[in-house]
Amino acid sequence: MGSCRQIAAQMVAPGKGVLAADESIGTMSSRLEKAGVEATTEHRRRYRELLAATPGLADGASGIIFCDETLGQTFADGTPFARAVLALGILPGIKVDTGAKPCPGLPGETVTDGLDGLTGRLAHYAEIGAAFAKWRAVYVITDELPSPGALRSNGNALARYAAACQAAGIAPIVEPEVLMDGAHSIERCAEVTAAVHAAVREELALLGVDLAGIVLKPNMVIEGKGNPEQSSPERVAEATVEVLRAWPDELAGVTFLSGGQSPECATANLEAMQHHRTPWPLTFSFGRALVDPALAAWHGDPALVEAGQAALAERVAANSAAVRRRAQLQPA
Ligand code: 13P
Repeated sequence: MGSCRQIAAQMVAPGKGVLAADESIGTMSSRLEKAGVEATTEHRRRYRELLAATPGLADGASGIIFCDETLGQTFADGTPFARAVLALGILPGIKVDTGAKPCPGLPGETVTDGLDGLTGRLAHYAEIGAAFAKWRAVYVITDELPSPGALRSNGNALARYAAACQAAGIAPIVEPEVLMDGAHSIERCAEVTAAVHAAVREELALLGVDLAGIVLKPNMVIEGKGNPEQSSPERVAEATVEVLRAWPDELAGVTFLSGGQSPECATANLEAMQHHRTPWPLTFSFGRALVDPALAAWHGDPALVEAGQAALAERVAANSAAVRRRAQLQPA
């Protein structure tokens, strides 16, 4: 348990966030194809090496989340990914869920799979160097949803996953994501996010999960993408922090997902969060808001690896600067 606390604290160290580069093979393949890159195993490997080997990445990234395929691969020089990033001063993480799947009994909703055999897989990942793990539960918003069944089923799966991780000495990222799809208001997002978190907290408590040894990865509280009104960063920060206040002080930290926000918007919202005094650090674990510019700049051209890395470094530096504002705004 001690080591999970240490790892979680390291993940949210001042000025640091976590890079999410754990897209499943299917998602990564379609993103590569969209960028004009043939979706092969080797191209997925090269892209992840480009990201992980970005010069100076460790200045703003405490960890990188990979998927199972990447953790079984090596850098071009033959060094396995986990060992290569550890040598660069970055913690390797592993996405251990197997995806959000339609659930009989819950029409229009999903429950995340991956508990079968999880203990054995965690032992293997620990052996090859994984320091932390991730599991993402996904919740749709409508006027009626999420249903109580989706709240309970996903909350229970997140808690079982988190307990299994802590037993294996791997710090769990607990990710309940309320989607931005739809035209809902920021108030509706706040209401749903609060209900989701309450269900997750209840299940974590029932399984004795140590909150000081987990990192919470929530959505920001924000309007649906289809809502013509879009709140200011100050309003998003205020609404988000208000929902988060229900979490006990011992929680190790909060690392937000970007969820489809533009890179600049996600950074502005993250910066606005730092104006609020909270017992836990509020930082980033963005996927798309960090890597989309890198993928666009590289688009599979070996001559443009440095351009891709520069694009990633620029986003990481901007988000790191945003979270470093906390120290200025809230002197100890
Ligand atoms: P986005 O920041 O693109 O939402 O990805 C974060 C993530 O890890 C999704 O599970």
